[in-house]
Amino acid sequence: MSEFIPEAGSTEDEFGVPVPGQVLPQELWARTALRKMPEGVLDWDTLFGRPAERIIDIGCGNGRSMLLGALSRPECDFLGVDILPVVIRYATRRANHRGLSNTRWAVIGGRELLLNHTASGSISEVHCYHPQPWYRRDQVSRRLITPEFLSLVHRALRPGGRFVLQTDHPIYWSYMLKILPYFFDWRERSGPWPQAPQGMTRRELIATQRGLQIFRGEGTAKCNLDPERAIQVAESLPLPVFNADRRLLELDQLEQGGRPSAGAKRGRSGGRRLRRRR
Ligand SMILES: C[S@@+](CC[C@H](N)C(=O)[O-])C[C@H]1O[C@@H](n2cnc3c(N)ncnc32)[C@H](O)[C@@H]1O
Repeated sequence: MSEFIPEAGSTEDEFGVPVPGQVLPQELWARTALRKMPEGVLDWDTLFGRPAERIIDIGCGNGRSMLLGALSRPECDFLGVDILPVVIRYATRRANHRGLSNTRWAVIGGRELLLNHTASGSISEVHCYHPQPWYRRDQVSRRLITPEFLSLVHRALRPGGRFVLQTDHPIYWSYMLKILPYFFDWRERSGPWPQAPQGMTRRELIATQRGLQIFRGEGTAKCNLDPERAIQVAESLPLPVFNADRRLLELDQLEQGGRPSAGAKRGRSGGRRLRRRR
């Protein structure tokens, strides 16, 4: 079956808000899929064919925020990862059609990317927008933002590197605010991102249009914390075992096209248990 070829110059809306960029003539399209994560540490310079500032979006979903970033900062290289192949397919297609050769997209968990494929001190920015709160008790172990995850973000960032985190889930946010300052010089941000006042991501658009509060913040990696000490600190901090407010579950289902939440369908294999790693 032949693939649908969008017209050059065409644009798209998502919930009434334009998706950043527009389709270029076919001869300018890029190939941005990272089909198989290479063994070991990822060699960004070879992957992108140049040295550049490196930016990661974890749980990138359909890639809206990274499209904007890659269009507005062509001098930087961007890697978007998500565990859902379908969203990575959407993101890849849009980036290809916009000629965004400074992006790559891969199906992989954020923790696995940082732990197994990311050199210490090599990344300029890590972004994470709306990590899933996971509502059912048997899904709690899938929550991405844990002390160990933050220690891995800290390890990945170069000195002064930036971590950006956002959610619409107040209980998850208050948990995050308790543990973030151990790894980052953290500050909360009020008001929308100036570069995307209607919403930086698909989830932010949905939540904002429903009148939910968005919680945002950013921090720089603490420079007096070495990776070994960061692991010790992580082991002393509480895990995200809060009871999530199930009223927000409906929003997750809407975000996934009205189907039951991905977690409900994915079974246990995509998750991991929350226990201390030694
Ligand atoms: C609520 S959606 C948010 C998507 C996007 N960041 C946004 O704001 O629109 C959460 C995304 O995180 C992905 N995800 C869940 N667990 C993950 C993990 N361990 N590593 C990477 N992505 C994950 C999900 O598949 C989903 O696409």
